[in-house]
Amino acid sequence: MCGIVGYIGRRSAAPVLLEGLKRLEYRGYDSAGIAVLQGGCFTVVKRKGRVRELERAGNLEGNVGIGHTRWATHGAPSERNAHPHVYGKFAVVHNGILENFAALKEECLQRGEAFASETDSEVIAHFIAHAYHGDFLQAVRDAVARLSGSFAIAVLCSDYPDCMIAVREKSPLIVGTGEKEAMVASDLPAIAAEGMRAYSLADGESALIRADGVVFYDSDCHPIEKNSVSYSCESDAPRLGEYPHFMLKEIAEIPKSVSRTLEEPFPSELDGLLRSTERIYIVACGTAYHSGIAAKYAIETLARVPVEVHIASEFRYSDPILSPHALVLAVSQSGETADTIAAAKLAKELGATVIAVVNVVGSSLTEVADFALYTRAGREISVAATKSFNAQLALLYRFACRLAEAKGRSCDFASLKNLAPLAARTVELSRRIAEWSGDFTRAKCVYFLGRGADYGTALEGSLKLKEISYLPGEGYPAGELKHGSLALVGRDTPVVVLLTQTALAEKTMNAVHEVEARGATVYLVTSLRDYADATAHTLVIPSCVECFSPVLAVIPLQLLAYHTAVSMGRDPDKPRNLAKSVTVE
Ligand code: F6R
Repeated sequence: MCGIVGYIGRRSAAPVLLEGLKRLEYRGYDSAGIAVLQGGCFTVVKRKGRVRELERAGNLEGNVGIGHTRWATHGAPSERNAHPHVYGKFAVVHNGILENFAALKEECLQRGEAFASETDSEVIAHFIAHAYHGDFLQAVRDAVARLSGSFAIAVLCSDYPDCMIAVREKSPLIVGTGEKEAMVASDLPAIAAEGMRAYSLADGESALIRADGVVFYDSDCHPIEKNSVSYSCESDAPRLGEYPHFMLKEIAEIPKSVSRTLEEPFPSELDGLLRSTERIYIVACGTAYHSGIAAKYAIETLARVPVEVHIASEFRYSDPILSPHALVLAVSQSGETADTIAAAKLAKELGATVIAVVNVVGSSLTEVADFALYTRAGREISVAATKSFNAQLALLYRFACRLAEAKGRSCDFASLKNLAPLAARTVELSRRIAEWSGDFTRAKCVYFLGRGADYGTALEGSLKLKEISYLPGEGYPAGELKHGSLALVGRDTPVVVLLTQTALAEKTMNAVHEVEARGATVYLVTSLRDYADATAHTLVIPSCVECFSPVLAVIPLQLLAYHTAVSMGRDPDKPRNLAKSVTVE
């Protein structure tokens, strides 16, 4: 989703901004722009499409500037709607959504002000200009007081060429400081790549940024001291190496993601909490939600503690009833997903203990939660989540074992250790899946069926295929199809069936017969050798403790989505209309 970069210092700003924007490209965007201030004037370059289009504008003079990658919300992706927005003496970049933008815009129109874009963001520049009577900081504060919704902004003023102002409200913003230079960015990689000290702004905080120092302010505008956040060099952008796409590289990294996640120490202070936990709530979105659905079976099977899995955007507005002794797991790769953060905050307000299961150290969700458990998938560049899903499952399985132990139930921890080597074998075996993809490129719709733990895998397989190949599809509980959706199944609807649960296998096979009887071709992914010849297209994957099987069974589906998308000429790393971190509601 949108990215912000700002720079002030001894170097020419434009190259730093462009490099920073490139490091944020993985978030997903549709247009980009930069504004550089020199001699009291802004030079602004905006382009629809990629950041590299901005480079063609040549080097822009000036040591202070702001840049942005935009993911359209209000107004189509276009040069006109790209940020920065300049009005009067001010240039602004904005991430987030202004909920009262229509009323604010109306006020500006009443004042006779003209708008250059259809965005909500442009009103910010108008309101700052309107509030400005010579004091830059005060004007920004007065304007921000009028905004409601979520925003992270960076602002320049042509009267103040030696400073930049940043404000955060419900959308992440990091300030970086170096030797006679400073930056602001929506995400760590842009700052980490410059080796700067990083400071994460909290909601309501702002920063007055100069090359030789930064003053941070709390929400009451009092100056505050802040501690820098630590980050690893992994925050720097990984390289593709021998792989054609990051998605394929990241699928190959699944075994490492799983083993590193399982090696991560589990905080012993959680044991007391686990002993008293009577119900688990998992809140998450998208792929992370599917990891919750799949992990529910492992937690309930091993620990016999009931688990409810909620889509975070539903949970936050459902006036939820949490049982006493509830433990909430907020699962997120980025740790910046607005709905998941809001769900975690609400759960805390309702008295629950919240554990963030997160891949990005220092992300906003970790600040909200009582505890953070880290998946160690490493940076995920491809917009479609793959290795982070497997790492989430590994962590949630480990959690299930610890919970089982805390509840006095025996648990075979050693079986967890096998998951990484088994994942490596599954990646190898799944190479054959490329042969299946030809049949999928012509599909009208693709069904993914599974029961029990396999249902979560089916949901994720379907989401992967949809988001990167743009083929319609559905993940369905195998037993539910006959209650209506079977009407859609026919020759042009390939059906992928997951079969890893012995106790449910015959039941799932009923669904196989039902869809075959309607002319559909079945593609079976199974760990049960007895079913190796059950259909003409069967991939036998390694078997493991059955409630852990989604961590393996999803791998062929991730690869199926990848190969189908590539055969259809799609870019799997940058699917349309999907952002890597969804920081708006
Ligand atoms: C799918 C995908 C999204 C994310 C979802 C939650 O491939 O990437 O569905 O899973 O936006 O993101 P996180 O895990 O960062 O909270």
